[in-house]
Amino acid sequence: VPISPPDLSKCHLADGGDGVGKVQCCPPYGSDTPIVDYQFPSSKPLRVRRPAHLLEKEEIEKYKEAITKMRELTKTDPNDPRGWMQQANVHCQFCNGAFDQVGFDSTLLQVHYSWLFLPWHRWYLHFYERILGSLIGDDTFALPFWNWDTPDGMRMPSIFADTASSLYDEYRNLSHLPPAVMDFKYAYGDAVPSTDEEVKEVVNKNLLQIRTSYKEGLTLPELFMGDPVRAGETIDDSTNSSGSLETIHNGVHQWTGPDSEPYMDMGNFYSAARDPIFFCHHSNVDRMWHIYRAMRGHKTEFEDTDWLDASFLFMDENKQLVKVKLRDSLNPLKLKYTYEEVELPWAETGI
Ligand code: C2O
Repeated sequence: VPISPPDLSKCHLADGGDGVGKVQCCPPYGSDTPIVDYQFPSSKPLRVRRPAHLLEKEEIEKYKEAITKMRELTKTDPNDPRGWMQQANVHCQFCNGAFDQVGFDSTLLQVHYSWLFLPWHRWYLHFYERILGSLIGDDTFALPFWNWDTPDGMRMPSIFADTASSLYDEYRNLSHLPPAVMDFKYAYGDAVPSTDEEVKEVVNKNLLQIRTSYKEGLTLPELFMGDPVRAGETIDDSTNSSGSLETIHNGVHQWTGPDSEPYMDMGNFYSAARDPIFFCHHSNVDRMWHIYRAMRGHKTEFEDTDWLDASFLFMDENKQLVKVKLRDSLNPLKLKYTYEEVELPWAETGI
């Protein structure tokens, strides 16, 4: 049986981990909120997601303005589901266990560590992007992607490092501001690579990790995407293997967040989505899945209705609660977005 959306009337405290403890991140809406089924935005223009380090001035301004508006919503009405903090709380709810699975009262609903990871985050970004676009009245607005699979993109995009910008977040590792090079295998306390030689080495290791992830995962979706999970099953990292893409993604979270407990924002999932860079990071995670699918000729990863019929709930830009099915996430063009094509240095000689 596929995973289904939670009973909204039964939200409880979530677990923010060491140094945080129990947290309240429940949504401001409950089970009396009407739900509609998702409809493809067929008549809308296509949004083209571009690399964050290559944005034009005008694109940067739009992005900053949209995030400013989202932050303002939280100030004017903390319960507006489109606001910055409510949007961040959605991540806390499904990563830190604010809901049990329907019919299984002590089994938490969790969207990480499994084959749900990529589709759930795709939907999360889809609605987040639509909300941002609607806040600035632009339905071509597209989230940029943090192009960390190319050497020029393996540092924090400078738009996030400007302290005067709405894209800035003070809860980050300050020694990882640009031009510090990212390390997917970063462990807290590691020194920042400084010599040309060291930089080159870590860049190459990162590229190799991506390459290996595709090479091993192309024929075996569990390896790339994560293990199957079904209704009633415990979902955590001791019972499931995350996909190799999720593992790379964890490294970027850890590298971006500060290096001491409670590692918030980016290094702690309960707070990660408070940092606007989260969505830019996930835009690239999503893009990596998109590339993976294209490399496989768009062959469905799991012909299994427990995957295809898994369903989730999200608030849209009109404060309408929408039920989505995993199967409808598979083709971004239907969701009216795509990615600008850039070089793939990790794939250069073929996989
Ligand atoms: Cu829900 Cu980057 O994790």
